[in-house]
Amino acid sequence: MRVLVTGGTGYIGSHTVVSLIENGHDVVIVDNLSNSKISVLDRLYQITNHNIDFEKIDLLDIDLLDEVFVKYSIDCVIHFAAFKAVGESQEKPIEYYKNNIGGLLNVLQCMRKHNVFKLVFSSSACVYGTPDCCPIPETAPIRPQNVYGRTKAICEDILKDTSNADNRFSFAILRYFNPIGAHESGLIGEAPNGIPNNLMPYITQVAAGIREKLTVFGNDYPTEDGTGVRDYIHVCDLADGHVAVLNWLDNNKGYCIYNLGCGRGYSVLELINTFEKVNDIKVNYVIGPRRSGDAATCFSDPSKANNELNWKAVKTVEDMCRDSWKWECYARSSNL
Ligand code: UD1
Repeated sequence: MRVLVTGGTGYIGSHTVVSLIENGHDVVIVDNLSNSKISVLDRLYQITNHNIDFEKIDLLDIDLLDEVFVKYSIDCVIHFAAFKAVGESQEKPIEYYKNNIGGLLNVLQCMRKHNVFKLVFSSSACVYGTPDCCPIPETAPIRPQNVYGRTKAICEDILKDTSNADNRFSFAILRYFNPIGAHESGLIGEAPNGIPNNLMPYITQVAAGIREKLTVFGNDYPTEDGTGVRDYIHVCDLADGHVAVLNWLDNNKGYCIYNLGCGRGYSVLELINTFEKVNDIKVNYVIGPRRSGDAATCFSDPSKANNELNWKAVKTVEDMCRDSWKWECYARSSNL
């Protein structure tokens, strides 16, 4: 299949491009490079030995997007391109709603015009907000607690309404839990701008000596060691989930929703300890207050994806910690 990957030079997008190519698909990347680097393309070449078509455009420019659909014969779209920082989304709601919702609407309009009817949408576990219970099934209530999460929930509704109104469409909505890790080559990975918000990039930057210490946000949660519990999933497993769902799109109309997670939780302290052990390096940390909006425990029930997509996250938390560190070391040594 010829797959248009929006946001294909970003963290999850770039790993998905590798999986697509390894599984025999052709890829066209569209990205405005607002949160990624053009050098990702060279590194994707090193990993895949394929020259990947790339168009630097912003999805909000529908005329340029339309030209991409004219230039390439697209079979399917995987739509990653979006703003994703939770804190920033609270400060810039207009920008977040405009970019995340406007981007999807432009993609859908171009798809309809050019008779492309299959799309995979990058959603997030944050649409569930603080869950009533874990593991979280896809049927759990949708009640996002921040602007970023609301953009994802609104996009999901747009896809449901569109597929109900026009039965030519097939949409797969993937709700990611906590992606960490990097490609085993160490050539691509997560490259946050400025101070990282998420746990793993913060850990790797402390280990690399870029930041003095990690603050653990609270150790008085009702969890085994008092720190927050999350469902970390290796980004390469997550990427494979996108390839697995393409079969569903080929054989079904309407829409489907799948959780992509491992189905088990790790605490902040467990992740730090595993990172220190597998990489033989110290991570300085202090215990601080809770971060507002954080749930104590959040992990998925991935059985629907396991059973229906024949997909399962197979990499261990040790793999995640090792590969995250390999990428951090490469990024530092290459001045990325
Ligand atoms: C966060 C977002 C979520 C988003 C997800 C993307 C918030 C409130 N939630 O989720 O909407 O979908 O990222 O990956 O921002 N932690 C520390 N110290 C740190 C950073 C994190 O102790 O410096 C803890 C957190 O309290 C949490 C765990 O580490 O228990 C994971 O945090 P994080 O990586 O930010 O992910 P989420 O909170 O799950």
